[in-house]
Amino acid sequence: MALLTINDLDISYNNTLTVSGFSLSLGQGEICSIVGESGSGKTTVIRAVLGLLPVGGKVTAGSITYDGRELTSLDKKQWHELRGRDISMIFQDSGAMMNPTRTVGATFVEYIRAHEKIPKKDAWSKAAEMLTKMRLPDAGRIMKEYPFRLSGGMRQRVGIAMGMTYQPKLLLADEPTSALDATTQAQIVREMGELRDEYGTSIIMVTHDLGVASYISDRIVVMRNGRIEESGDRDTILHRTENEYTKMLLDAVPTLGGERFV
Ligand SMILES: Nc1ncnc2c1ncn2[C@@H]1O[C@H](COP(=O)(O)OP(=O)(O)OP(=O)(O)O)[C@@H](O)[C@H]1O
Ligand SMILES: [Mg+2]
Repeated sequence: MALLTINDLDISYNNTLTVSGFSLSLGQGEICSIVGESGSGKTTVIRAVLGLLPVGGKVTAGSITYDGRELTSLDKKQWHELRGRDISMIFQDSGAMMNPTRTVGATFVEYIRAHEKIPKKDAWSKAAEMLTKMRLPDAGRIMKEYPFRLSGGMRQRVGIAMGMTYQPKLLLADEPTSALDATTQAQIVREMGELRDEYGTSIIMVTHDLGVASYISDRIVVMRNGRIEESGDRDTILHRTENEYTKMLLDAVPTLGGERFV
């Protein structure tokens, strides 16, 4: 059975239909990328899955079923229980989401204690352990650092470490690597793939770069103007597409970490 099934979803902003007829089925441990040009509705779709559409945004038709539960009708409290534990999200610039006046450690410990009633000291160790897992050297030092004093790649690893703390069944990532240089992009995308292997996490990753998508995805959804232009397994999209728009995106793929993957 699929972990997540999105069926014929319509999403509007201020009564203007923005995404229509979006469907997707994701199994446990599967990685699906959503690609497409700027404004095609990628962020809108994953925000809807997480119940985090901005003010004015609304799911107007269709369903999102996660682990047998309908998500579009959850209330605040039910969302609070799912988010961060079962389902978590990482953003384009995790650093920008962190309070600049607090250290990484303080933010991380607070995040853990919002989800689990454990002593500060234990939360601190748990956070440090997650940072180490994300290949951040000297986790103890990073915990005492302010976000703006870390590199973009380090901040993003902190964001992913936070998002993975509770071994979510589903991770939604919105352009998690696009603020980074190509080498760091490749490393982080690879590390996300390793987390999937270790925890069996299903991942939906938004990117406008088909190169990044091809790197770890099992499946790829191509969006354009709020609709699915094409979707299929990775190799079909990359090597056997007949779709002109997908072909155009493929032609625009840069190399990732010096290597071309498509
Ligand atoms: N808060 C909002 N209020 C009104 N319209 C919005 C809002 N957020 C996004 N939109 C509109 O919805 C459409 C899809 O936006 P979305 O952010 O989902 O695109 P995207 O594919 O993620 O683009 P990008 O690659 O630039 O991040 C755009 O036309 C955008 O103008
Ligand atoms: Mg976006």
